[in-house]
Amino acid sequence: MTETKTSRARVAVLVGSLRADSLNRRIAEALCDQAPDGVVLDILDGLAAVPFYDETLDADAVPEAAAALRARVAEADAVLAVTPEYNGTMPAVLNNAIDWLSRPYGAGAITGKAFGVIGATPTPYGGKWAHADAQRSAGIAGAAVVAEAVVSQSALEVDVVADAEVLARFQAVVDALVAYRPVAA
Ligand SMILES: Cc1cc2nc3c(=O)[nH]c(=O)nc-3n(C[C@H](O)[C@H](O)[C@H](O)COP(=O)(O)O)c2cc1C
Repeated sequence: MTETKTSRARVAVLVGSLRADSLNRRIAEALCDQAPDGVVLDILDGLAAVPFYDETLDADAVPEAAAALRARVAEADAVLAVTPEYNGTMPAVLNNAIDWLSRPYGAGAITGKAFGVIGATPTPYGGKWAHADAQRSAGIAGAAVVAEAVVSQSALEVDVVADAEVLARFQAVVDALVAYRPVAA
């Protein structure tokens, strides 16, 4: 886990790419580096070690990597997915993490957490189908999907980890997650 600053609001970051030089991981790291005082961004490393969700495994002795994922998200106030798109949807590694976080049904670690999603792809669409699918899946899993907390950024004509305007759009998503308060019933 990467932790940059200490403070009150904690955002668990799920990176949807395992690639060593992942653009989306670099976006997540840039957001860690520029996190405002009072905000901690935790990049949840180790998603590759989380086995594919299997209700048989989700028993008394949950696999260590899955238990660690749940614990880290349980400690967070919000969850931010930073992900590319694979074949028109979110990568399996992110989908799998959401599945683990969705159980026990109704009481998964993601339940009630503010959820946002950002990412970049080298296409004109920036991964928007993956991002829409991640929002839908996280919402069904029990997260509080923050409608405006989504940015699908094309990486075709801009350096998405250096451009100040792009980084500000990503940062605005973090800010929206931190500012989120559940509506009283
Ligand atoms: C299996 C696979 C499927 C992909 N499908 C899409 C896609 O549907 N839409 C898209 O915009 N990019 C797609 N791409 C391209 C990725 O967006 C691109 O490789 C991106 O840089 C991956 O993110 P990363 O740099 O964080 O690893 C795909 C890449 C792979 C490896």
